[in-house]
Amino acid sequence: MENWFDVRQKVAVITGGSGILGGAMAKALASCGARVGILGRTAEKNERMVEEICSAGGQALGLVADVLDAQALEEAARRVVDAWGRVDILINGAGGNIPGAAIPPGEHFFEHHPYANLKRVFELNFDGTVLPTMVFGRYMARQKSGIIVNISSMTALQAVTRVPGYSTAKAAVDMFTKWLAVEVALKFGPGMRVNAIAPGFFVTDQNRALLTTSDGGYTERGAAVIRKTPFGRFGEPEDLIGTCLWLCSDASRFVTGIIVPVDGGFSAWSGV
Ligand SMILES: NC(=O)c1ccc[n+]([C@@H]2O[C@H](COP(=O)([O-])OP(=O)(O)OC[C@H]3O[C@@H](n4cnc5c(N)ncnc54)[C@H](OP(=O)(O)O)[C@@H]3O)[C@@H](O)[C@H]2O)c1
Repeated sequence: MENWFDVRQKVAVITGGSGILGGAMAKALASCGARVGILGRTAEKNERMVEEICSAGGQALGLVADVLDAQALEEAARRVVDAWGRVDILINGAGGNIPGAAIPPGEHFFEHHPYANLKRVFELNFDGTVLPTMVFGRYMARQKSGIIVNISSMTALQAVTRVPGYSTAKAAVDMFTKWLAVEVALKFGPGMRVNAIAPGFFVTDQNRALLTTSDGGYTERGAAVIRKTPFGRFGEPEDLIGTCLWLCSDASRFVTGIIVPVDGGFSAWSGV
């Protein structure tokens, strides 16, 4: 049993690895012996995460790149392969909503929603998953082995008010996950797998003000989320770790093309 979840010496790249959810997954993989590339735009944020991982005895490398910049991604991939010889795991964690892309309360889609922001948030979440997959996945295809884990969202499954660009991009990520799982299995064999994790609602820097009040309570939106979550709480970043290790290891070797909700029951419940 003990080898099923083994990721020792695997080389993992986590886009958004300096963020809250990506960071939790990066630290978990590193603590289980994987070597992890932390990819994000801001060198200082990457290095802070690298330092945290290395000082806990792990191996990590900071990779400065924008997930929308193919050239910078190619350069990052070369650095990983120069350092560690291969790429075994890619977690596409960079993403989220962006300021100006959420419809403010009291406004509506037809008159007030700027198309440019919708397009930007769509690109960040969809193109920002596809491009790193093309770049890092090419190394996996040559190896005929590799695991890709995309990060989806509850907003891909059911309409969540205010975030049309984010929701539709994550829904596209879900279909891309299924499509690519089939493509790589047929062309490169069962050593290549593609799955996604759909986190429920986790309080992070991006949504803290949307979900919680300064005195530690819930906003109206936060309270609506909690009411529809049978577990009655928001997610903690560590809640993702078990699913991440399962998808990144042989424990899930016959699993491809699925989107795993990690949501305290949010997606299962009608709310009644
Ligand atoms: N929080 C939730 O409740 C929740 C729920 C479902 C899904 N998710 C998804 O989970 C993922 C992580 O979310 P989070 O809340 O942990 O976010 P976060 O803490 O804000 O982290 C986002 C990370 O992505 C990086 N990033 C942002 N834009 C980038 C770009 N263009 N190129 C490269 N890196 C970029 C950021 O670093 P730099 O700024 O240095 O680039 C940062 O490391 C996102 O895909 C989000 O949509 C979150």
